[in-house]
Amino acid sequence: MQRTVLIASDHGGFVLKTALIQALRNADCMVEDLGPDCTGSCDYPTYADKLCKRLLDAGEDGQNGRMLGILVCGTGLGMSMAANRNPGIRAAVCTCEFMARMARAHNNANVLCLGERVVGQGLGLDIARDFLAANFEGARHLRRISQFDTLTNPTKP
Ligand code: RB5
Repeated sequence: MQRTVLIASDHGGFVLKTALIQALRNADCMVEDLGPDCTGSCDYPTYADKLCKRLLDAGEDGQNGRMLGILVCGTGLGMSMAANRNPGIRAAVCTCEFMARMARAHNNANVLCLGERVVGQGLGLDIARDFLAANFEGARHLRRISQFDTLTNPTKP
């Protein structure tokens, strides 16, 4: 399956973003770098919003994992908070490979959030690799994640 990975960061995640882009392209992934282009100080919500809109505009909700997002900031926290404001986005901060696998397998996360100052480059690359390799298991997990919409947005059936 040819996969497209959308990636963005703020200044706190720029170095890890650059390393991820290189590693993913070496692994034959299609990567769309949504910025920034340099390490100057910038605001993570802007980049989280840009990536989430691009993912949702592509009609992707992560069901089949053909397009996934990676957001990197200093801790991963701000990016995940901003990303999860978008209905249809399930963004997960992961600090180990197990969390990355479970985020896909059980939560059908469509955006991985990484903290460059938390995981560093070596672990960050491994977490991203496991996130992208894992698949959603569906079944009871689909019922549960469906409740994200029905319980928090009562206008949706
Ligand atoms: C930037 O200094 C830092 O606050 C940001 O990268 C991120 O960690 C926020 O959650």
